[in-house]
Amino acid sequence: MKEEIIAMLIGRQDYLSGEEISKKIGVTRTAVWKHIKELEREGYKFEAHPKRGYKLMAYPDVPAYYLLKPFLKTRFMGRTGEYHNLIGSTNDRAKELAVMGVPEGFLVSANGQTTGRGRLGRSWASPVGQGLYFSIILYPNLPPVELPKLTLLAGLALGQAVENLGVEAKIKWPNDLLIKGKKVAGILTEMSAEAERTIFAVVGVGINIEPLNERESFSYPATFLKEHVAIVSRLKLLASFLGYFEEQYELFKKGEFARILKEYEKRLAFRGEEVKIISGSHEYSGRLSGLADDGALIIQDGFTTRRFAAGEISLR
Ligand code: BTN
Repeated sequence: MKEEIIAMLIGRQDYLSGEEISKKIGVTRTAVWKHIKELEREGYKFEAHPKRGYKLMAYPDVPAYYLLKPFLKTRFMGRTGEYHNLIGSTNDRAKELAVMGVPEGFLVSANGQTTGRGRLGRSWASPVGQGLYFSIILYPNLPPVELPKLTLLAGLALGQAVENLGVEAKIKWPNDLLIKGKKVAGILTEMSAEAERTIFAVVGVGINIEPLNERESFSYPATFLKEHVAIVSRLKLLASFLGYFEEQYELFKKGEFARILKEYEKRLAFRGEEVKIISGSHEYSGRLSGLADDGALIIQDGFTTRRFAAGEISLR
C-alpha cells in the first residue's frame, strides 16, 4: 500500500489529493494519512496542503523499484520489482519469483542481506545500507551454453555504470569489477535450464559502497565506491546499471555479441600480464592475451594456447 502511494507521488511536480489517492488504492482518506505518517517515520518528506493534497518532497536513497521512476530510462529492465529492507538473498527470492512467471526485467532488491551469496559457494557480506544488492530476472530464449555471455554483458554494464560516476573501472574476467586493482563489485548469475533451452536466468549484483568492516572477509583485495567518489546515490547507480544492461541485452538478442565483446575488452583487467587461473580442480598460468569470439578467456603459456570458459584468475 505504501509502495503504491510512493509510486503515485514520485516524479510528480504537482499535488495529488488525498481523495484521489484513496480512490486509486481503495482505502479511506484517514488510512492514506496514516500511511503518509508511517512513511515520514521511514525518512520520506511530504508537503501536505489542506485542499490540494500531498506532494513528495524527499525520500531515502534506498534501491527500491518504486523510487527508480525519475531516473529510469529503460523499456522493461527494473520496471517491475520487489523491495526488501532485509532479505536472505535477492538471488534466492528472484529464483522463486521466476518460477511464478513475473515479467522479464523484474528487479528484486534489498537494503541488506543476511545470507548474500557469491560465486564458488562464497558468502557476500551485505550489511544494511552499506551497498547495492539486487537481482534481475530474465527469460533468455537461448541454449544454456550461451549463458556465460549474459554474465559478460552484466559485467560490462556494471563497468559502464561505475565509469559514469567518474572512476576508471576494470573487469576481472568474467565479471568482477575492480577499481585500482581491488574488487568493488561482483555478479552471480544463476539459471534454470533444460538441455536446449534456458527457462530463466537470475543476474545478481553486489556493489560495495560504504567503508568495509574489517571483519568482513573477501576472497580478493576489496574496495568500496566511496573510497573513490564522494557521493554515490544508490538509486541513480542502479538506474544507470539497468539502462546499460538493457542496452547490452537488446544488442545481444540481435546477435551483436561481437560489439559487446569489443567494449568489454577495452576494460579487461590484466591484459598482457602474467596470471594464474584456477579452473575446476586445475591451476594454470600464462599471459592473459584476450578473449575469444564466444567470450572465453585466452591464456598463452609459451607455445601453448589455452581457452577457458570458466575460472578464477589472479595476478601471478
Ligand atoms: C561474487 O563476486 O562472488 C558475486 C557476488 C554477488 C552478490 C550479489 S548481492 C545480490 C545477489 N544476491 C546474492 O545472494 N548474491 C548476489
